[in-house]
Amino acid sequence: MSLQPYYEESYQSESGRSTVDLLQEVTTYSKGLFNYTVESKNRFLPNLDWSSLKILEMGAGRGGLGLLLARLGAQVTLVDFSPTALAQAEKIFNTEGLEVTCIQGDVTHPDINLPQQYDIIVDSHLLHCLTEDPDRSSYYRLISDHLTPQGIFVAETMVHRKKLFIPDGFMFDERNVLWQMFGKWTPIRRILDSLDLEKELNDAGFNIIYFYYYGQYGFVPHRSFMDLPAEILPAAVRMVVQNKEL
Ligand SMILES: C[S@@+](CC[C@H](N)C(=O)[O-])C[C@H]1O[C@@H](n2cnc3c(N)ncnc32)[C@H](O)[C@@H]1O
Repeated sequence: MSLQPYYEESYQSESGRSTVDLLQEVTTYSKGLFNYTVESKNRFLPNLDWSSLKILEMGAGRGGLGLLLARLGAQVTLVDFSPTALAQAEKIFNTEGLEVTCIQGDVTHPDINLPQQYDIIVDSHLLHCLTEDPDRSSYYRLISDHLTPQGIFVAETMVHRKKLFIPDGFMFDERNVLWQMFGKWTPIRRILDSLDLEKELNDAGFNIIYFYYYGQYGFVPHRSFMDLPAEILPAAVRMVVQNKEL
């Protein structure tokens, strides 16, 4: 089932906020993953200049990570299935006089049309929103088809740890899917064990060149999980993958 209406409604509910306020929030939020993306670029693509880089942000929302990368001179494209999020992102980029290409579409649909290949594809917290197996493999295929030969996919995602607190109104099943009750049970997150995530990436044809498990980090899957100790929240993984050489 598509969660597009759920995200769309949540972005619409914040339509009254000023662009300056949103700019402040998204840049603060994205700073950690921005630094990690810069480190990954410097390590794995050291010979490319920022001004020559084509970067695609998947599930970009308001595009905070893309904005910080555009400030370095990269040409940034944002993809999201929420038109409201992309409209807000465009306003944020315009405030700084930065260009951005926005593509509205579902990253799991075979008919999504991305016009070119990218040196870096970034994913700030989209992967764990894809709960179904065919959707995740379609997403991996989309990434693989749109990376340049040396291109890198840089992502941060939540992963399972043995103890996970599940508040009322949520359930967690044997496929590691977190469900929320909104009138009916709805799958909202897939919180894989990090070993299963590594296997999934390998099976999808990627070469994992960096994979780090942040056990001390407590990832909040939804605001109902706020203020819980890190050891009963999901942990985080940061990773960099490339297409395997043929
Ligand atoms: C958890 S939010 C992360 C937003 C942003 N990247 C950030 O880090 O703040 C997930 C984003 O992915 C988008 N999204 C979820 N599933 C998607 C899909 N199948 N295709 C395209 N966008 C999707 C949502 O609209 C939302 O903006």
